Amino acid sequence: MSSDGAWWTSSVIYEVYPRSFADSSGNGVGDLRGIVERMPYIASLGVDGIWLTPFQVSPQVDQGYDIADYCDVDPMFGTLADFDELLAAAHASGVKVLIDLVPNHTSIEHPLFRKAVAEGPGSDAWDLFHFAEGGADGGPPNNWISVFGGPAWSRVPGSRELWYLHLFSPAQPDWNWRNPAVGDYFEGVLRFWFERGADGVRIDVAHGLYKAEGLPDSPVVPTVIDGLRSNPLVMDQEPVHDVYRRWRRIAEEYDPPRLLVGEVNLEPERAGRYTRPDEMHQTFAFAFVRLGWQPEEWVRVGRELESVRRTYGSSPTWALENHDLVRSASRFGGGERGVARARAGLVALLGFPGGAYVFQGQELALPEVDVPVSERLDPMWFRGGVSRDGVRVPLPWTSRAEGAHGFSPAEVAAPPWLPQPEGWGEHAVEAQDSASDSTLALFRRATRIRRALLAAGAFVADEAATWDLREDGLLLCERDGGAVVAVAMGERPVPLPDGKVVLASAPLDGRMLPPDAAAWLVGGDVHARLVTSGLLPE
Ligand code: GLC
Repeated sequence: MSSDGAWWTSSVIYEVYPRSFADSSGNGVGDLRGIVERMPYIASLGVDGIWLTPFQVSPQVDQGYDIADYCDVDPMFGTLADFDELLAAAHASGVKVLIDLVPNHTSIEHPLFRKAVAEGPGSDAWDLFHFAEGGADGGPPNNWISVFGGPAWSRVPGSRELWYLHLFSPAQPDWNWRNPAVGDYFEGVLRFWFERGADGVRIDVAHGLYKAEGLPDSPVVPTVIDGLRSNPLVMDQEPVHDVYRRWRRIAEEYDPPRLLVGEVNLEPERAGRYTRPDEMHQTFAFAFVRLGWQPEEWVRVGRELESVRRTYGSSPTWALENHDLVRSASRFGGGERGVARARAGLVALLGFPGGAYVFQGQELALPEVDVPVSERLDPMWFRGGVSRDGVRVPLPWTSRAEGAHGFSPAEVAAPPWLPQPEGWGEHAVEAQDSASDSTLALFRRATRIRRALLAAGAFVADEAATWDLREDGLLLCERDGGAVVAVAMGERPVPLPDGKVVLASAPLDGRMLPPDAAAWLVGGDVHARLVTSGLLPE
């Protein structure tokens, strides 16, 4: 079954971080039933699907990205039956569900890692991981640095000479993908979730599975989360592409075909190679995801992604936020300007051709939280001094404070696993729900109009686009079908190009787009159709 023209080519997917979405049990940690209860909210956003970050069995050292059982739900989040219910509730609302697959590494508590350590060198399990003797100086086997800081190696428990490789925390040993048994194992995991009804998978550190043969010393020593991009020995090895060719064939055995979206944190040209016609369907456009409010960079990256689209035939997959990055409202300058730019960013993102991913709370323009040092839990903070806790603070649902602003049930609520800051209720869903000028209202309007434009043929999923930067920081992305996304990234109001405005992130002054705002423009005929269908006022 071919997946050409499939639903995801122009989908909007909402990333749900279960720990911080909604807590139904009252223990201060979000769970699957919390998501089920909030499914009407998710449906009200007008998104096509959700991506759930890991809820599988895990000691939670990296908040679930250290998985000890890939085919079961951690009791903290619920049960497989809860997952089935979540899936049914989502599907009944027309929402697809992607799960997170973490094939680069596992948990030190995974039975196979324990077995390897117990049985030692020469055993079958030993070869499933990267174990090695220390260097001549008694230190680690090579000079690789973990993404979270510190050496990428730790000593095997109980041994002085033997080490194991972990590109992330010591609780996350890397699988040895050169052993075919690892590939077989993950094909089983993939089928398990596809057969259960998951509509696709987001693949964690998808470019990392294979390391350079022999694990040689690196000439570059990376230290930050995306620093491994610059290390040609650790990531992006050729054999990894065969993994995705196999997975693509598996994804297409199902009806409808399942979606593969990869976390491939590489420059556009290298990342593009992962979306060749027989590999993954999408990879996040990381070159864009990482940007601040930098007009020249937006245009440069936009053009680069466009040229990659021409080469590999797959449209960019846009995002500005996820559970690892500083919230856009803060990254774009903070305060009121930061919020205005985050709103413009949302409108821009949903207007560019291709799929888009939005992180929970982005629809509320939540700011980054400065979580007190004593409350931080991110392993990256402890090893590398960078904390991702500030983007992971539990969502505010209600304005009033009870039950962590409605995150937990009021009666039995333990404090949320990360503290919410003063004033969190101002951003609450409840506060934004009824305000027509809220970011939540803007987001809902954007997804509604996007759907209408797609249906009207004014937004075409895979269409080409031309990127330009005009005077006074006016960024224009002109879609081949005629629709234009305009973003005012300078200091002054800018005149809009021709066309009828169908969406704007801020009130316009006549034909002038104020600074820190974005708008969509279309031809008069399309505009008239949106008016007739009741989506736009006369
Ligand atoms: C990915 C995840 C991040 C996690 C890391 C290790 O980058 O998005 O949260 O810490 O992989 O699994």
